[in-house]
Amino acid sequence: MTWKIRPYRPADEAQWLRCRVLAFLDTAYFDNVYREKEHYANPSIELVAELGGQIIGLIDIECEAEPGSVCSPPATPKMDGKAGMIWNLAVHPDYRHQGVGKALLEAAIALAQPLHLRRLEAWTRDDAATLRWYEAQGFEKVESYWHVYLEGGEVDAAISSAIPGLSPRHLFAHYQGDNAAQIQKRFRRVHECSRYDLILI
Ligand SMILES: CC(C)(COP(=O)(O)OP(=O)(O)OC[C@H]1O[C@@H](n2cnc3c(N)ncnc32)[C@H](O)[C@@H]1OP(=O)(O)O)[C@@H](O)C(=O)NCCC(=O)NCCS
Repeated sequence: MTWKIRPYRPADEAQWLRCRVLAFLDTAYFDNVYREKEHYANPSIELVAELGGQIIGLIDIECEAEPGSVCSPPATPKMDGKAGMIWNLAVHPDYRHQGVGKALLEAAIALAQPLHLRRLEAWTRDDAATLRWYEAQGFEKVESYWHVYLEGGEVDAAISSAIPGLSPRHLFAHYQGDNAAQIQKRFRRVHECSRYDLILI
């Protein structure tokens, strides 16, 4: 039996969510869990890979109707124009390294052609295999910042609550300062979050 790429259908939602959770379980996004599928304000390309009735991969791209309405500013002014944001890309761990991710991306790019997108944008954390995959597909790293998770005493030492009696025990923070080395040393869970762009036209 072989897998096929097809458009997402509302009836896929439960399997889509399960596939996404399983795909992220051994990555830096292991606790980024959705209980409902995202929907998008702009036109979107939403595809799944299906094998014998099972969803084994997925990609969601939100396509800008107006430049700058969804994606980051272009890396260079000459890349001005509409872009597409890859909000979700995941392949079930039992089906990795079989070309499913590449096929999902290629099918999405073909569907994006009439929309005249100049580039695709993706943000991803520091999983070496995932970064390699983006680079192998032709994406280039443009910029990055840091995702920092603070727990218990780490929160107490960094943040004070403005509400008497309320003490945060978990905190997720963005770090965009210039001393990432210190942040990495001080906190146990720190991820570099990198932007990758793929030039289309
Ligand atoms: C990143 C991800 C989407 C890639 O999907 P995939 O289906 O495993 O990717 P592909 O099969 O297209 O390519 C993966 C590798 O398999 C290789 N490959 C492709 N077809 C192959 C085949 N038939 N036989 C053996 N290897 C193959 C590719 O060359 C590629 O190698 P590389 O990574 O060294 O470049 C997937 O691993 C994943 O879901 N990861 C976890 C979630 C995640 O990080 N998502 C990213 C967005 S945050």
